[in-house]
Amino acid sequence: MNPQEAEKRIAQLSKEINYHNNLYYQESNPEISDFEFDKLLEELIQLETAFPDLLDPDSPSQRVGGTITKEFQTVEHETRMLSLGNTYSQEELVAFDERVVKGLGHSNFEYFCEMKFDGVAISLVYENGRFVRAVTRGDGYRGDDVTANVRTIRNIPLHIKGDDIPAKFEVRGEIFLPLKEFLKINAEREEAGDALLANPRNAASGTLKMQDSSVVAKRRLNCYFYQLLGDEIGVQTHSEAISLIEKWGFNVSQTYRKVENIQEVIQYIEDWKEKRFTLPVDTDGVVLKVNNYDQREELGFTAKNPRWAIAYKYKAESAESELLSITYQVGRTGAITPVANLSPVSLAGTTVKRASLHNANEIERLDLHEGDFVFVEKGGEIIPKITAVNPEKRKEGAKPIAYITHCPECGSELERKESEAKHYCPNSESCPPQVLGRIEHFVHKRAMDIDSMGTERIRALIDQGFIGNYADIYDLEGRKEELLGLEMSQDQYETEGDGLLYITFEKALFALTEQISFKQIHDFLLEKAELPLPETLKAFQEQIRIWKKKVPSNVGMVEYLINHLKDHNLPKLEDYVPVAVVLEILLGRRVEFERILEASKTEGTVHGILLKLNLDLSPEITDRIKKLKANTFQDGVISNMMEGIAASKNQPFEKVLFALGIRNIGENTAQLLARHFVRIERIQEATSEQLLDVNGVGETLVTSIQDFFANEENLTIINRLKSHGLKFEIEQNESSQMGDQLAGKRILASGKLEHFKRDEIKDTIIAHGGQYISAVSKNLDFIIEGAEMGPSKREKAVKLGIPLISEKEFLKMINE
Ligand code: IVH
Repeated sequence: MNPQEAEKRIAQLSKEINYHNNLYYQESNPEISDFEFDKLLEELIQLETAFPDLLDPDSPSQRVGGTITKEFQTVEHETRMLSLGNTYSQEELVAFDERVVKGLGHSNFEYFCEMKFDGVAISLVYENGRFVRAVTRGDGYRGDDVTANVRTIRNIPLHIKGDDIPAKFEVRGEIFLPLKEFLKINAEREEAGDALLANPRNAASGTLKMQDSSVVAKRRLNCYFYQLLGDEIGVQTHSEAISLIEKWGFNVSQTYRKVENIQEVIQYIEDWKEKRFTLPVDTDGVVLKVNNYDQREELGFTAKNPRWAIAYKYKAESAESELLSITYQVGRTGAITPVANLSPVSLAGTTVKRASLHNANEIERLDLHEGDFVFVEKGGEIIPKITAVNPEKRKEGAKPIAYITHCPECGSELERKESEAKHYCPNSESCPPQVLGRIEHFVHKRAMDIDSMGTERIRALIDQGFIGNYADIYDLEGRKEELLGLEMSQDQYETEGDGLLYITFEKALFALTEQISFKQIHDFLLEKAELPLPETLKAFQEQIRIWKKKVPSNVGMVEYLINHLKDHNLPKLEDYVPVAVVLEILLGRRVEFERILEASKTEGTVHGILLKLNLDLSPEITDRIKKLKANTFQDGVISNMMEGIAASKNQPFEKVLFALGIRNIGENTAQLLARHFVRIERIQEATSEQLLDVNGVGETLVTSIQDFFANEENLTIINRLKSHGLKFEIEQNESSQMGDQLAGKRILASGKLEHFKRDEIKDTIIAHGGQYISAVSKNLDFIIEGAEMGPSKREKAVKLGIPLISEKEFLKMINE
């Protein structure tokens, strides 16, 4: 490769790595396996080593991931948190061993083998036996202080007692979310319609960065420890250190083994190759470490890795399978996710039939063609992914996969924003899964908490035109009468060309007869499946005689059916009969057939037809007709639903805000936004900068919020919800809300004030509608300057052109 080619390739690799880094660290949604990622990085490092002139200080090879989050305090590690070099083959392992032998000048040393846990690296500092600090790896030099969250992990010792506890020491390990917990959380998220967590590793890392440690506590994180550091720990080997931390109560995975040589290391790797799938945490390899500390010191470090330890990564298990088709799923937010349907193949102990494809880019990257043979791999993810196509098995003339252009659910043309990888169905108002998903989300326990509105009921209400958006839920309060008897499932109906409603044959016979169970009818029809309709009916009459069940009336009803079907001569559908004909028999002479027929052309259920006909029926006939319907809404359910709807009006603003289902606003963000802006209008009117001022709000979220409020339909819905009494502002008790003089203003107070203590000034600002900001930034509206304001702060404020006002002026402002 010449320098020009190298330069091009380095740029290309850097771009690709940055893209995947971002997906992995920021989006928690990686698209390629670690193995593939490591290979890209390895290639980059190799090129940068071969062409040192081309090494850019900003190259991703210099930063190997791990950005520092702004919410948590940044803390410097006393000893840098290094990463390990990786190997992928026995040859590379043997080469490592040879380097160690060469470095020490002999082979008189031991290795300590451990599993490589796929979690989040953590450092815990103990002083005088007490746990004082937990810091994430960050960039290796500095990480985030996550002490409050780590404290919630139940088996982390908070205080170690004993005679020989060093005054200060550090233990390092790997925080993880046990697989069972992960599956449980995802099951809950699925039920709530929330995006699923990609894998346990990301779930652990996301949990560790949560702002509310009580939420963390509920998630049951765990930790395995594998390193002890400190000046006075008094041990000479790693195995002694591990025994010591075990004795002190730290959780050490019982998978380690001390061995004599590299052959025994290879044996260890082989022994755990399959057994590792039984561990509660994902593992992607093995770590081998020289056991003796003096020998470690002799060996030293390269720029990034110790020379005395290395990781061996298992190759992810992979299998080959044929692509049968691609299903495009439409999510609650309209996001389209392509899923590959594969011919079943067994992989890492399970049968794989589907693989995620993420988005159109991924299909393009794989260069996927119809009917391709593909390689699937199971990484840390639960759903396996396609890693490559087998080009040799491509069928002649196979067409490349053409990504859909229209929504598979509603037919709208799909859209794709420049900054986003996914396609979206823009028809948020009426695309069925979006409508259903939004309403499900709205009524969810963690949102508006409306009891008795499960998926099936919501679907029935949508299908039958009762609700089309969540504001319609509150109109149900005035439609109780119509709901009673409303049918839940449309499966038993079919419509013919001009909209005429049909019902399954078995339902019809069940409603027309007495004392014969639905199952008896079902089984009978199954047996007579070959006969044409009139003959089946004759045979059924015979069967009634054999059963001896209310023979004259039941046989008579079937006779009616035979005759009416013949007389009306309506179009025929296999296994279905016209609802109008069945109703005509059940209703007798009460209504003209023509009216029933008309109603059965516009209504989709028996319930709908009866409402339309507006009849006053005897309980006996009502009971018979009930047998014709699907499961229905009953009194109890309806009153529970109504109570739930009424009670939901008391949900606080933050829940309402979450319930609105604005893209990317989860529970935590909703809470932050609600507290920051106090009422919905302020969120709606906020500038991008004002939104970005809120911790945890990024560009993507700003766009989601602005898009939401730019949609007229959403504003109408919010107004309707307001008119129903939902809360769109934080409840303040009367005394704390004193005025509106500071509405929308961002204010900082600095220096000593005469009239206020620190907390009082904050409360006063908030009570007058302002926001208290704790640092000097260009986003401030003004600063209240107290006595002895810090000179550097003052200088910065002046430089940024932020007005400084006196306490007196401030008092005047709020007393106006
Ligand atoms: S020892 C200098 N042991 O792998 C060596 N690390 O690439 C320090 N890891 O940041 C690490 N299991 O997060 C060590 N048994 C184990 C490990 C382990 C997982 C992670 C750790 C570290 C990364 C190194």
